[in-house]
Amino acid sequence: MSNNEKKDLLAIDDLIDDLDDIINWAIKYKNDESIHQDFKPLDGMAIGSIYEKPSTRTRVSFEVGVSRLGGQPLTLLANDIQLGKSESIGDTAAVLSRFLDGITYRCFGHADVEELARTSTVPVINALSDLHHPCQSAADLMAIREHANPEGHIAWVGDGNNVFHDLALAGLALGYDVKYATPVGMEPDSNVLSRCEDIASKTGAKIIGTNDPIEAVKNAAVIYTDIFVSMGEEHITDKFSAFEGFQVNEELVAHAYHDYVFMHCLPAHRGEEVTDAVIDSPNSIVLDQAENRMWAQMSILTYLCNNDAWHAYNEM
Ligand code: CP
Ligand code: NVA
Repeated sequence: MSNNEKKDLLAIDDLIDDLDDIINWAIKYKNDESIHQDFKPLDGMAIGSIYEKPSTRTRVSFEVGVSRLGGQPLTLLANDIQLGKSESIGDTAAVLSRFLDGITYRCFGHADVEELARTSTVPVINALSDLHHPCQSAADLMAIREHANPEGHIAWVGDGNNVFHDLALAGLALGYDVKYATPVGMEPDSNVLSRCEDIASKTGAKIIGTNDPIEAVKNAAVIYTDIFVSMGEEHITDKFSAFEGFQVNEELVAHAYHDYVFMHCLPAHRGEEVTDAVIDSPNSIVLDQAENRMWAQMSILTYLCNNDAWHAYNEM
């Protein structure tokens, strides 16, 4: 990518060519405290973040990460701005591009973040849509590199939607095998699966789907789950019952490697998709994942908004 070319991050495979380096950059930067004081690649830049849904991790990690890089973060809650009420996504994007150097957007329908990116003249980062959560997967792959046994596979137990989609795309891109168990009817999106197959054919990794959680977690290095009913799906009343047998509990994790790591994007609904005994166990790395949101996004923001500075640090 040349520094003058506008690039967006709507799904993690948008960064496929440099994903490995983006994750290594984040790990290096996280551990390189001596540079934190002086490295300000977003100096003079403003990054606005639009939220149509609640957020704790994404909002705080973007605000703190942008500030640490010398930029000015602005949080724009959908209820407080004109977007969706008296102004179109296109007009909002065009106007914000005159003030901002980057926009992050948490929306309901993925088509909305695609439309914002089409009209914006500054980089757009998807901060979670119904289809993708790319920043989460960058942080997750950092945590997997840092903590997981490289011999085993990544096992997913739960809904085949946004968090799973980017975890699978990123995991396969970095050479991890992925086995996922979803209830019948909650399999991943077919377009995302074909992108997964395409990536897997290049890296030699494998992706295997099942409806049996035990099958997915057998000999896994990573067990990952998410809430059963995502934001915006609360009206689907029969969804919850479909997840019977999909709780990650001590009985299920006994099928994984003894040194498996438990992962969850959070927020967790304890007692539903995961028990206290698992999420609070020494195998759980959920807080490292959450912290990594900031470091991964600092790498992504620098890559998209000041590519020369990103390369200069990468080559140091
Ligand atoms: N994992 C995640 O995106 O958390 P928030 O909804 O709190 O941002
Ligand atoms: N799948 C969840 C992830 C929350 C971070 C949701 O979309 O609500």
